[in-house]
Amino acid sequence: MEQRIFERIGHRALRERIVTAETAVSWIHDGMTLGLSGFTRAGDAKAVPMALIEKAKQQPLKVDVYTGASLGSDIDKLMAEAGIIRKRLPFQADATMRRKINERELLFVDQHLSHTAELVRSDVLKPIDYAIVEAVSITEDGMIIPTTSVGNSSVFVNKARRVIIELNMAQPKALYGFHDIYEVGKQGERAPIPLTKVDERIGTIGIPVDIAKIAGIVITSQTDSPSTIVPPDQETAAIANHLIDFLRAEVAAGRLSERLAPIQAGIGSVANAVLYGLLDSEFYDLEVYSEVLQDAMFDLIDAGKVRFASGCSMTLSESKMEQVYTNLEAYQGKLVLRPQEISNHPEIIRRLGLISINTALEADIYGNVNSTHVRGTQMMNGIGGSGDFARHARLTIFVTKSSAKQGAISSIVPFVSHVDHTEHDVDVIITEYGYADLRGLAPVERAPLIIERCAHPDYRQPLRDYFNEALKRGGHTPHVLEKALSWHIRYEQYGTMREEQYELQR
Ligand code: COA
Repeated sequence: MEQRIFERIGHRALRERIVTAETAVSWIHDGMTLGLSGFTRAGDAKAVPMALIEKAKQQPLKVDVYTGASLGSDIDKLMAEAGIIRKRLPFQADATMRRKINERELLFVDQHLSHTAELVRSDVLKPIDYAIVEAVSITEDGMIIPTTSVGNSSVFVNKARRVIIELNMAQPKALYGFHDIYEVGKQGERAPIPLTKVDERIGTIGIPVDIAKIAGIVITSQTDSPSTIVPPDQETAAIANHLIDFLRAEVAAGRLSERLAPIQAGIGSVANAVLYGLLDSEFYDLEVYSEVLQDAMFDLIDAGKVRFASGCSMTLSESKMEQVYTNLEAYQGKLVLRPQEISNHPEIIRRLGLISINTALEADIYGNVNSTHVRGTQMMNGIGGSGDFARHARLTIFVTKSSAKQGAISSIVPFVSHVDHTEHDVDVIITEYGYADLRGLAPVERAPLIIERCAHPDYRQPLRDYFNEALKRGGHTPHVLEKALSWHIRYEQYGTMREEQYELQR
């Protein structure tokens, strides 16, 4: 075992710094700030956070936790249950943590995922005491080779007072060479980011670190948690078909070729299903410039549909993990993992002209989108990277099923109860009933299109009634202000947005 570990620690002096997770957490005290690796369940530091949760049982403490995005191995859940978090940012996706956030037992800062690095670099956020990052190996010159995600690890390592590395023996060594780490430098002093093509490499294969800052190396052997996405269903398959119809229309109009443009696809079951739709399409030689690479992406690469994929994490189901991680060589030259600041960078998103596909919880009749807050108040996961992409993409597409909770909720509402993506950023809305292309349309042109093409048939008449009443009130973006959120209030009080059921219950 020792030999296998030393093979992964190229820098000889660092071999002396191996410690247990318990020793590592003895350095962590109440009030500290931790920068953890991990992005949508991939590449997260596992052993040290777990040991910290154990330590807190004897010795209560609270820390601030910054990450790339959501963590796996139930770490967010267990940290929330143990009550060890004072503040968490920039994203999470765990049911227990979600509940604690909404009960305000811990503070949550819901941040654009490209912003965290800037705020850390410029010392706006509380300084990081310990960066705790998972690595597949450490090179002879002391560079940290990340595992299945890069997330914010690079900036955390750079800015933290000390660094703890979790060397994960269960992560495939063959991940070496898949990363491209680029440091943008300080705002006001930096040069343009020299990335002009999806498959370009602009940085180093690992995270350069001042080895004097490495406090310890903890050896672990726990695999990532598999993703929790559910397979495509009839509705998500229909959404995928409408997306393809829309893209075909763009090709027919001469605005795109059959190679399309680099694609970004968001997290979750809907986005994954939508990507599966591309498998049987005529589009070919596709490029992906995205954040999370989910199962569908690997099927598209395997099928020869996707030529190259750039992401910042690989979040896979159990069966896909087995298939991909034992066969990583097949993806050499077809895949790169970058810091989230680069995968989500506005400069690059605009330059490459992405087609960006993300999921909405709800959209309103004018095209504003809510991706984060149920009934305007209850945090779901966070905005993640959706805002980074929505504002800057060539084509910003939001997908959603037309209704939720067995039809009790309409995903198309008079007015969204929280705005993550304003009407100015949303080009196309797609549900299982069709797509509404909003580009170049005034608000009063958008509303009928969204209602007739995207709303669930049961909700179309009530939406028409709302819009017609609003038109009588006048204005550029007509509303009946006292009724604008009445659908959400009805759901809160009676468990349904349906008018007829509400009348019965009243
Ligand atoms: N009101 C209340 N609940 C709603 C809802 C609405 N309008 N629309 C959906 N939901 C519920 C669903 O019922 C489901 O609940 P369940 O988990 O209890 O079954 C849950 O939200 C997830 O919905 P689902 O349709 O399965 O979609 P998803 O798994 O694709 O997730 C988001 C959708 C919006 C939650 C998810 O994509 C997200 O967090 N997005 C924001 C971040 C982001 O876009 N990141 C990507 C950038 S790269």
